[in-house]
Amino acid sequence: MKILVTGCAGFIGSHLTARLLKEGHEVIGVDNFDIFYSRSQKEKNLMPVLLNSKFKLEEDNLATMSFVKVLKGTEVVIHLAGQPGVRGSWGASFGRYLTNNIQVTQRLLEESKGSKLKRFIYASSSSVYGDVPVPEGTEAQFLNEEMKVQPKSPYGVTKLAAEHLCQLYNVEYKMPTVALRFFSVYGPGQRPDMAFHRFCQSILREAALSIYGDGKQVRDFTYVDDVVDVIVASITADVVGQVVNVGGGSPCTLLEAVTILEEISGTTCAKTFLDRQKGDVISTQADTTKLEKLFGFKPKVTLREGLTREWEWMKKFVQSEDDEIAIKANVQPIIGVDQEAIAQVKADEKAGKKAAKKAKTNAAKKDPAQAELTDAPAEPNESNG
Ligand code: NAD
Ligand code: UGA
Repeated sequence: MKILVTGCAGFIGSHLTARLLKEGHEVIGVDNFDIFYSRSQKEKNLMPVLLNSKFKLEEDNLATMSFVKVLKGTEVVIHLAGQPGVRGSWGASFGRYLTNNIQVTQRLLEESKGSKLKRFIYASSSSVYGDVPVPEGTEAQFLNEEMKVQPKSPYGVTKLAAEHLCQLYNVEYKMPTVALRFFSVYGPGQRPDMAFHRFCQSILREAALSIYGDGKQVRDFTYVDDVVDVIVASITADVVGQVVNVGGGSPCTLLEAVTILEEISGTTCAKTFLDRQKGDVISTQADTTKLEKLFGFKPKVTLREGLTREWEWMKKFVQSEDDEIAIKANVQPIIGVDQEAIAQVKADEKAGKKAAKKAKTNAAKKDPAQAELTDAPAEPNESNG
């Protein structure tokens, strides 16, 4: 099958792309290497698939590009591109959420409504729910798809708006849309603004973990391979017109997750407790009845197993970042730098400069504003409580 994956260089998109190729599909991936976090992490994400002859990368901005070429012969659209991040969605950055989450989704739906798609799969979010009151006499409220949704962050508002757009195009244009509500996804390649990425980095750099609020907030952490399993299954499952929770199935508090990470890393972490962040919900626990009914699926990867895999990935990632810094500074690294890796980074850097020059010229032709931007860090405002 020919499948269009938007956001293919991102965290979830790159895992998905690798899986689809492994299953023999042809993948056309669109990504503009948005400045939200480093291009270098996204390039590393794509490394395993770049040489696959069934993969084609279109580096372009979904907000402005023409879709004619990427939709030609495409049977399935998997729309993951967007501006993620709950806590950073306030203030001036909201424009990025509007464009990349709402306008881009509307453009893509509009442009593909005439094509004979088998599925249009949209990456929605647990953030659409907001804080749902816990019924008296019970300990927790499981979030189910029939509930009233009331997002607590501007990010959640944009994810919900785009989800509604998918439903509208399903009703009015018979587009085969399905919206999957992912719950705090983690694993190797996780985005640098997210909790486990930041915690692993802090442990490796011997810094204190920044905990927002009291750490008792609950998250239904979901391992990325489980998410990919569900996305792939929704290509053929009978799910058109549906909204489905994709939760990990073993919710816990943030501090419980930190304890597991401490055990995995063999470290007792210093913790700095900061203000609760605006937009952060108290609890997300997915009711997965619908997921199990429609897909016959239960998440397979436990938090301990998934966190171990992310920790192992992060050790290599941090080392590769240090190697790159050492090489750029042109100093003799003190420990553990693999000479082959140095040669590779130098070669990549040379190739990257060439590609960047070409991409910049192309981008300037298509979208002068985007071409002006440079890589920016993805840290949320740590004092907005
Ligand atoms: P990510 O930032 O790693 O990936 C998104 C990708 O989209 C990036 O590579 C970015 O460059 C690309 N992109 C953004 N705007 C674009 C544009 N205008 N044109 C082309 N490419 C563009 O994020 P992720 O964590 O992989 O999340 C993927 C999707 O899943 C997002 O839509 C997010 O809202 C949703 N989601 C993620 C989680 C999670 O926990 N990671 C949970 C719920 C929902
Ligand atoms: C995540 C993703 O970032 C969103 O894109 C996604 O839509 C959302 O899941 C979802 O499920 O809908 P979040 O649950 O906030 O959002 O995931 P993390 O960024 O991993 O944060 C988890 C918790 O850790 C939050 O309460 C956050 O405040 C806290 N945190 C995060 C810290 O205490 N310290 C940090 O350094 C980072």
